Amino acid sequence: MRLSQQNLLQNKSFINNEWVSEQSGKTFEVTNPATGDVITRVANCTPKETEQAIEAATKAFEVWRKKTAKERSAIMRKWFNLVNDSRNDLALLMTTEQGKPLAEAKGEITYGASFIEWFAEEARRVYGDVIPTPLNDRRIVVIKQPIGVVAAITPWNFPISMITRKISPAIAAGCTVVLKPAAQTPLSALALAYLSKEAGFPDGVINIITSDNAAEIGKVMTEHPLVQKFSFTGSTGVGKMLMQQCASTVKKVSLELGGNAPLIVFDDANIQQAVKGALASKYRNAGQTCVCANRIYVQDQIYNQFIQEYKKAVTSLKVGEGTQPGVEIGPLIDEKAIEKINRLVHEAVGKGAEITTGGNNHMAGKLFFQPTIVENCNQEMALSKEEIFGPVSAIYKFDTEEEAIRFANDTEYGLASYFFTQNLARAWRVAEALDYGIVGINEGVVSHAEAPFGGMKESGIGREGSKYGIEEYVEIKYLCLGGM
Ligand code: SIN
Repeated sequence: MRLSQQNLLQNKSFINNEWVSEQSGKTFEVTNPATGDVITRVANCTPKETEQAIEAATKAFEVWRKKTAKERSAIMRKWFNLVNDSRNDLALLMTTEQGKPLAEAKGEITYGASFIEWFAEEARRVYGDVIPTPLNDRRIVVIKQPIGVVAAITPWNFPISMITRKISPAIAAGCTVVLKPAAQTPLSALALAYLSKEAGFPDGVINIITSDNAAEIGKVMTEHPLVQKFSFTGSTGVGKMLMQQCASTVKKVSLELGGNAPLIVFDDANIQQAVKGALASKYRNAGQTCVCANRIYVQDQIYNQFIQEYKKAVTSLKVGEGTQPGVEIGPLIDEKAIEKINRLVHEAVGKGAEITTGGNNHMAGKLFFQPTIVENCNQEMALSKEEIFGPVSAIYKFDTEEEAIRFANDTEYGLASYFFTQNLARAWRVAEALDYGIVGINEGVVSHAEAPFGGMKESGIGREGSKYGIEEYVEIKYLCLGGM
């Protein structure tokens, strides 16, 4: 791969501002999902290097927490500038290891960098409180302090932004971090680490452990007594297990887990807006996001009109290798993803659904799938219960508003939801009735550094981004000043 800054391509772990190999030299392959080619091999670290990183982060915490918020903010700002300046290289690296189209990868660099910028600003606004006292001889004051060493595990679908969304609030608050990126996409994480060193973070503030054994590294991170906080983005099943492991040392946790987003198109929607929103929500990252529209509910009266326009838009999506001009849908991450989609679609067809667009593997390669529409879906199908994580739109018909809300809430997940209506009263009513942490109203892409991202029910705990995001990385300390 030709980058203009070749140093961004690193293949060792990053501990205490140094590039570190696994002790006996073990490595694992990183491949391009579009072609199957091996890009490089990276250090396959073990619990030993993870503990080394936690110790480095513990030592660094004593230095980093003592910097003023303004000092921390200034270093973060340099990192933000360096990430933006390296946008083209970082995007190429991301497309090569993850598969998303180059334009989307560039969008993700901007999105990822925005968390660094936002939390560099928020660092200076971690205010405490003075609380009116119930007794005249004392005063009540609340201060907020960094929680300590943070361990984090991030997914492959957003190789940069899920990292900056966790690291930025942590370091802004004065914490230090040990992070394990997904084994499929470690190169973007290591490039970020390279730029963090250039920005001037002290040794041990940011540490990246690469490994293809997430369970082994996760166990150290969740059970280590020197780690005070654990943050994870990934599946609900794995999140539950990690949360259980965190119980052994009563760590504070943030979990951003699975979703099963409903997208409702009411008969009073602006159809063009709904088609555009559904397309953007469903097909972003080839359908591989936790907030992708997983179930599209369309009201009887406008069903035919919506479907006709939606099909036209879906059929025109260009599939191919992400580096090719104009491509909108890249490959899926691995064969398991292709198998899952085939299983879900076939099960639905067996129960009465109908494939009306696509439905097969795409000729662009082994990991490509045709943009697909499946109609006549119902709540009994696995399609309506599991995250599809691929370019398949599952369409359901509904009759009344009450029915749409009941269907939408009929899941253990509660991350993102969307609906389209031009009726203001309905907009408020439905927004309040949906059991979801995020509600997009007449909008299919809702993620911003300024807004709180996170779910209800089994979709997780805590919020990332926004003014709330930094709260996850501080302890509240109550000072009682007596003898007045
Ligand atoms: C995710 O899929 O977990 C993140 C999506 C986003 O930040 O928009």
